[in-house]
Amino acid sequence: MEFSTTSKPIPASGISPESLQKYVEEISQLPKEKGWRGLQDLFLYKNFRFYPVFLEGALHARDHFQAQPTDIFLCSSMKTGTTWLKALSFKIATRGQRPSDDGSDMTTVSLRAAVPHDCIPFLEFNEYSTAVTGSEIPLFASHLPYTCLPKSVIDSDCKIVYICRDPKDTFVSMWFFLRKFVTGKNSTDVESFASIDEAFELFCKGLSSHGPYWEHILGYWEASKRRPEKILFLKYEDLVEDTQLWVKKLAEFFGCPFSAEEKREGVVERVVKECSFESLRDLEVNKRGKHEKRGRVIENSAYFRKGVVGDWRNHLSDEMGKKIEVIMEEKLMGSGFTF
Ligand code: A3P
Repeated sequence: MEFSTTSKPIPASGISPESLQKYVEEISQLPKEKGWRGLQDLFLYKNFRFYPVFLEGALHARDHFQAQPTDIFLCSSMKTGTTWLKALSFKIATRGQRPSDDGSDMTTVSLRAAVPHDCIPFLEFNEYSTAVTGSEIPLFASHLPYTCLPKSVIDSDCKIVYICRDPKDTFVSMWFFLRKFVTGKNSTDVESFASIDEAFELFCKGLSSHGPYWEHILGYWEASKRRPEKILFLKYEDLVEDTQLWVKKLAEFFGCPFSAEEKREGVVERVVKECSFESLRDLEVNKRGKHEKRGRVIENSAYFRKGVVGDWRNHLSDEMGKKIEVIMEEKLMGSGFTF
């Protein structure tokens, strides 16, 4: 399948100050609870917790985003391998295309020139028109729970890839990632950021960004059982164990399987290698680059911490590990899904 470089004809990119005000007001009416950052609350929307920056975009997408049946969504809760999935999907979908030398064209920019988050946009950041698009397959990403996706995403019956990760590693990754944002800000913000023990207790109660984590997983898991041909469900740990297998599955799911010739020429292996943790982490753009999301500047290196399975053992006690496992078992019981 050929991938062209056209963009989606959807104009909204960013939220106008008037719309933003409307959503800020809507959010202010929602129930809220203490989040991990003392100065910022988590808001309850459709049974999930959100920081306002994600929710403002989600509400805008709810009202304005029009999915096409050919769109493909890469969905995930935070810190479950989104960046890696984006890199792999981008590489699979644009293989054979020559990136423009100056990187000026978003649709042909290479992973050498942009962090994967700038290659495949997040719905919640209202980057509807910068999607890497093929003539038939535009790729989007979202951290939204299944039930919070814009109605048109469900109604259009477009494809979804969902990635999840062991909750212990996800929690540890999230704590380090979010703590990074308060470092360097005013001291009240730094001091008020939850300790790892405090954040752990909140996470176990479902009080985390896009939490409860188990409900996030269950929503997509149940949907994937109902529509297996449209929703591909994968685990970070499985992707680590056999990346080549999943790269081939992803290509098939996208409708652009690797040809026998490509397989002979080692294209699958190349995709895996170019998207490995070390390869991406060591790219200049990811070592020193920054990108901006709705006025917040994020260092690209924040997305490449360790990339290993089981790092939780270095930060949580056995008892804490057991506690999350028991909670997950209980919550996922009867669903047919286990870690
Ligand atoms: P750690 O913090 O455990 O290292 P997300 O992309 O959803 O924000 O998830 C980030 C996690 O994925 C981080 O985990 C990060 O190091 C890991 N990661 C990023 N790129 C990766 C890659 N190419 N291969 C494996 N893991 C990767």
